Amino acid sequence: MSLPQPIYLDASATSPPADEVLDVMQAVYRRAWGNPSSLHGYGLAAAEQLERDRQELAAMLGADAEELLFSSGGSESIHLAIHGVCSRWPPGRVLLSAVEHPATLAAAALLHQRGWEVELVPVDGSGLLDIDRLEALLEPPTRLLSLIWGQSEVGSLQNIEAIGARCRSAGVLLHLDAVQVVGHQPVDFRSLPVDLLSFTAHKLQGPRGIGGLLVRAGLELDALIGGGGQERGRRGGTEAVALVAGMAAALKLATARLLANNGSDPLAPLRDNLLTRLLELPGLRLSGPDPRAGEPRLPHHLSLLVNDRSGQPLSGRQLVRALWREGVAASSGSACSSGGASPVLEAMGFGPAEAASGLRFSLGPWLQSQDLDGVPAALERARQRLMENISS
Ligand SMILES: Cc1ncc(COP(=O)(O)O)c(C=O)c1O
Repeated sequence: MSLPQPIYLDASATSPPADEVLDVMQAVYRRAWGNPSSLHGYGLAAAEQLERDRQELAAMLGADAEELLFSSGGSESIHLAIHGVCSRWPPGRVLLSAVEHPATLAAAALLHQRGWEVELVPVDGSGLLDIDRLEALLEPPTRLLSLIWGQSEVGSLQNIEAIGARCRSAGVLLHLDAVQVVGHQPVDFRSLPVDLLSFTAHKLQGPRGIGGLLVRAGLELDALIGGGGQERGRRGGTEAVALVAGMAAALKLATARLLANNGSDPLAPLRDNLLTRLLELPGLRLSGPDPRAGEPRLPHHLSLLVNDRSGQPLSGRQLVRALWREGVAASSGSACSSGGASPVLEAMGFGPAEAASGLRFSLGPWLQSQDLDGVPAALERARQRLMENISS
């Protein structure tokens, strides 16, 4: 698929639905529009479609079909994972990393109102979890760690093997927010030391409004939304059969790309090349892990801190607006707080001005390497435009 100009480098926010995904959804909506709970043929056609897609999706994620339930997206899956398991216990302690997505922070804030202790585990300057500090916090009454696997703003990929092993030996459940990971590296739920895993379709060229939660077999989960007993009683509401089909089609495309490239995302070399060229510009620094040094980072993601010529941090949000006028859609990466400082960058140790100077480029399969050729020059023009505005 080719996108019109301007160039879209904001895949971590959302991605354009793939043509194949739109075709599949339209066909399924026309053919299997019935309610999967209905007992007549229209319902059976929808139920069959839904269960076929559930099996395919689960297989691509290394899970059993019974372990996969559908939700409206990442935010709902995260809420369901955290509240679904915690509501079965008396209040205890839940751990999060200090660099979680706002959806996780919101779910934990609700738990806090219900008497739970919420503790943030610190990260290092690259956004990677401090495993020693985690270990010290795993004793009772800790019940659950909810962790962002691939950080949306700074790209850090947590060491799930090491973290999961510690959670397992302490008897603490582990939920992964894998929203940025699924589609960009193979995920094998069966072999991961985790209990719950959230993902969403719209980050991998699937439709908006559909996501999934993998729940380890045997783990009991209370529903957040009651209703007609759908999703084995864990999520009420008539199932979005066509959206599920679109999500399956999107994951199929992503899985095929990974398989054709020995399990790694073909976007990584494009990203590395762009990163090298961007870092040739004065006043730009990488934030998060450095993939060129073998540090663990989302393969389609790069994030920068941007200074002006005199070394003063610029506003990432203003840069994004200026870049758009240069024909590049990017992001400052953060759901910002007052003054534009990113809580994620602050948790990594950056001061308020630096933490407001973040810029994120996130790539998708619609890009060819030559599409990126003009990006460094566009950034330089945007920065120039901003510096002129500031000084005038
Ligand atoms: C890491 C992460 N978690 C959760 C979400 C929320 O997903 P959704 O938009 O599907 O609710 C996002 C989306 O921005 C995300 O990047």
